[in-house]
Amino acid sequence: MSNKKKIFSGVQPSGNLTLGNYLGALRNFGLLQDDFDCLYCVVDLHSITVRQDPELLRERSYAVLALYLACGLDPDKNVLFLQSQVSGHAELGWALNCYTYMGELNRMTQFKDKSQKHADNINGGLYTYPVLMAADILLYNADMVPIGQDQKQHLELARNVAERFNKIYGDTFVIPEPFIPKTGARVMSLQDPTKKMSKSDDNVNNFILITEGKDKIIKKFKKAVTDSGSEIVYDEENKPGISNLMKIYASITSKSVEEVQKEFEGSRYGDFKMAVGNTVADTLEPIRIRYEELMQDKAYLDSVFKKGAERAKSMSEPMIDEVYRKIGFLR
Ligand code: TRP
Repeated sequence: MSNKKKIFSGVQPSGNLTLGNYLGALRNFGLLQDDFDCLYCVVDLHSITVRQDPELLRERSYAVLALYLACGLDPDKNVLFLQSQVSGHAELGWALNCYTYMGELNRMTQFKDKSQKHADNINGGLYTYPVLMAADILLYNADMVPIGQDQKQHLELARNVAERFNKIYGDTFVIPEPFIPKTGARVMSLQDPTKKMSKSDDNVNNFILITEGKDKIIKKFKKAVTDSGSEIVYDEENKPGISNLMKIYASITSKSVEEVQKEFEGSRYGDFKMAVGNTVADTLEPIRIRYEELMQDKAYLDSVFKKGAERAKSMSEPMIDEVYRKIGFLR
């Protein structure tokens, strides 16, 4: 690796990825690969904080890697790997647990949300999830972490834990910065544009999956809720539906919302929805095709994971060594 800044990010293999994941994360990852040294992890250890079917978990781990690749991430330029294949994550995660206070974890809003949602399985892993995430990042001395708004609190915790450790043992960890790419849009549900587009939504018309296929995507956009009135103008408060569609269109075409507004001046809602649907479908179609090819070739995906794990191990082993030595473990 070079003296470029280091980026670390992770995606959980716990479901199908949406247009929101594409615009907010995956697409941007590809734009960073020349200017930064990037590690993109499939964070399967995180996923078992919610009960997973083993076979499905394996399939979805491949699926996230296939999507990384289909979205244009070059496996030679980026370190693409599976978290459970690099033991340093669990090792550093355990150590950092002992430098994280329950008071800090009690404040995590995602833990509160998830324990409400999975009231029958509020396990210790769900509680210490953010510590494992801190370990992911600190293990590689990542400078920057591309994340959505919902992960900012976790990153703040990682920074606090890193600072605490550095204070006790001397400089060890780089303090990571959040990196919220300017092109990253927050994509809202198509049926209820006041909430975030989520793959775990009960109503399948709320979300667009990256791998969904053209006809379905267009159909879902046709059904998307719009607002009263008839003009295509950006007004998040009074026209959340149209504004969400405008944001999606702007993001996918790399235009500004103002440009989009101009482009559709005088158009009807129905025509606008078709235009958005077609554009999204056309953009995702080649990704879906490549994804499906890759999913037919598990041997290739395994080889990418293998090489990624080797690189990630050689990058992370010195850190485990240093941390363990500082803590007082015999080496
Ligand atoms: N918690 C993140 C999410 O659900 C996933 C994640 C795990 C992550 N480890 C990470 C993201 C490290 C960035 C960096 O979205």
